[in-house]
Amino acid sequence: YGDANQKVDYVFKVVLIGDSAVGKSQILARFARNEFSLDSKATIGVEFQTRTLVIQHKSVKAQIWDTAGQERYRAVTSAYYRGAVGAMLVYDITKRQTFDHIPRWLEELRAHADKNIVVILIGNKTDLEDQRAVPTEDAKEFAEKEGLFFLETSALNATNVETAFLTVLTEIF
Ligand code: GTP
Ligand code: MG
Repeated sequence: YGDANQKVDYVFKVVLIGDSAVGKSQILARFARNEFSLDSKATIGVEFQTRTLVIQHKSVKAQIWDTAGQERYRAVTSAYYRGAVGAMLVYDITKRQTFDHIPRWLEELRAHADKNIVVILIGNKTDLEDQRAVPTEDAKEFAEKEGLFFLETSALNATNVETAFLTVLTEIF
């Protein structure tokens, strides 16, 4: 997980977006530090973390940006998207509303990001399967229609978090 003493061939900026409390910050904590916290606080402004990994024999520094889902805590939108080559659009599989808002996030993304940005739709919190409110099929269909990658994850038990980042980073590559 450490970045120490590694030569870097590429730096890729990836942004996390989606409603508040869907788990963006915990997905990032899982990816960057292999940590998870149940009492995660709402993000205020912008934070980022990096992790360097090897993809196809090259050292890739993933610089992952995380902002607030809550409007009043959000940072300047254009600066957030500037230079991003990947985006993770996150909803919570137990909260239908967070999925229903995805088209709005996609609209914002398309208005501000580079048109070649690689986008993955992520349904988080699969560990709460008994509370599922968004069928996998609905999200899959939406992703196909919009030309997005799609995965369901759990930051809590680490399911598919690594795969989600690798999907984006490998495609950027
Ligand atoms: P904002 O910063 O307000 O935009 O929210 P966020 O999307 O960053 O959400 P955050 O990562 O802070 O997580 C919100 C809550 O959901 C916290 O209580 C987390 O512990 C919890 N959470 C995040 N991921 C998971 C998960 O995969 N499973 C479960 N059960 N809880 C999760
Ligand atoms: Mg957050």
